[in-house]
Amino acid sequence: MKVLVVGGGGREHAIIKSVMKNPEIEMIYALPGNGGIARDVVTVSIGATDIEGIVNFAKDNTIDYAIVAPDDPLVLGCVDELNKIGIPCFGPDAKAAIIEGSKVFSKNLMRKYGIPTASYETFDDMDAAVAYLETAPIPTVIKADGLALGKGVIIAETREAAVDAVKSMMQDKMFGASGDHIVIEEFLEGPEVSVLSFTDGKTVVPMVSSMDHKRAGDGDTGLNTGGMGTVAPNPYYTEDVAERCMKEIFIPTIEAMKAEGRTFKGCLYFGLMITKDGPKVIEYNCRFGDPETQVVLPLLKSDLFEIMQAVTEERLGDMDVEWLDASACCVIGASEGYPVKYEKGFPITIPENLLPNTFVAGAKTQDGQLVTSGGRVLGVTAVEPTLEKAIASAYEMLDQIKFDNKYFRHDIGAKAMAALNK
Ligand code: AMP
Ligand code: GLY
Repeated sequence: MKVLVVGGGGREHAIIKSVMKNPEIEMIYALPGNGGIARDVVTVSIGATDIEGIVNFAKDNTIDYAIVAPDDPLVLGCVDELNKIGIPCFGPDAKAAIIEGSKVFSKNLMRKYGIPTASYETFDDMDAAVAYLETAPIPTVIKADGLALGKGVIIAETREAAVDAVKSMMQDKMFGASGDHIVIEEFLEGPEVSVLSFTDGKTVVPMVSSMDHKRAGDGDTGLNTGGMGTVAPNPYYTEDVAERCMKEIFIPTIEAMKAEGRTFKGCLYFGLMITKDGPKVIEYNCRFGDPETQVVLPLLKSDLFEIMQAVTEERLGDMDVEWLDASACCVIGASEGYPVKYEKGFPITIPENLLPNTFVAGAKTQDGQLVTSGGRVLGVTAVEPTLEKAIASAYEMLDQIKFDNKYFRHDIGAKAMAALNK
């Protein structure tokens, strides 16, 4: 079997390392991959949003199966185009990927089907949005409709800040056309839980829960980033919460998408907040989360590629998806200055024995040497019997990985440990 993986971050590296364990696979191509991924599989410099390039490559190389990992090619219809030339894929078609591609769509879906989420209003007129803010409860949350590289959310603590946020999105177009439509929603409070799930549109199988750490600095300070580390499982995701999520959120979402003629097949990511009124959806993603994937997949005992094929062929209900009874912690090694401004091009050394645990994101090969090329450079994941051990091992491993200007948070997992010890 020849498999194509679209994408080039730590998430894709984790997917590739997991899929590689399947004995049926002879060849994996990553488009575009990165310098770290190139140590494991063949990388091809075709960008993840170059749908035509991806389709042509798949045709020319008689690809048997494709895994489309990032949000933008999914929203752009990469799966639709690959399916058209007969290539089965893991990932939703464009009609289903809209669940992440449009926040207005996903909020209206939740309202229509009674799925718990923050109450909200949608606007496509700036004056109406500003008028609404005169009486809206503060703090309030303002979201650009479309994909905005995970940055299209502003939490406004004051009325003035809320008006500024609306203007920056709708007038100054800080997120481009994504800001033509916006959602203004209720500010929710409570611990956040990420739950990735496999679904073939009929069955939904939640993966191990996880916790992201989105802020750049220790103690959840500083700017929002793509994620500075993750732990799994998430202690706030108790059996009770899991049961409620299944009944009130997961199954209703799958059914709602089916009823709308937008059957979702692939990995559906539920970003949840556990409020005092129960679990509520903060956001849906149409794909594996990054860096959640780097802690979730190392805990998967079953064969990922078999599960993916079962999703494509709509026989997920027949699969036994098993997980290790252990904990995982992933700490991201970033470039000092991320997410604003940082230097690149520093050589990276990773001890041989740590390669299986290292998921490379922002690195490229230059004169045969792996060098930093992005803000989030790599993630290192430890799997241990307890969360406490997993955290300690992940930090020990990151300490052995060397590159100049290495920056990381020191408190990944601290909140989860505090919850466990409560
Ligand atoms: P998102 O890009 O939708 O993941 O939002 C980024 C972050 O903003 C989330 O992880 C939450 O921490 C926060 N957030 C989004 N919506 C809300 C809300 N309604 N109430 C409180 N926090 C929110
Ligand atoms: N870690 C959040 C995301 O992948 O969007």
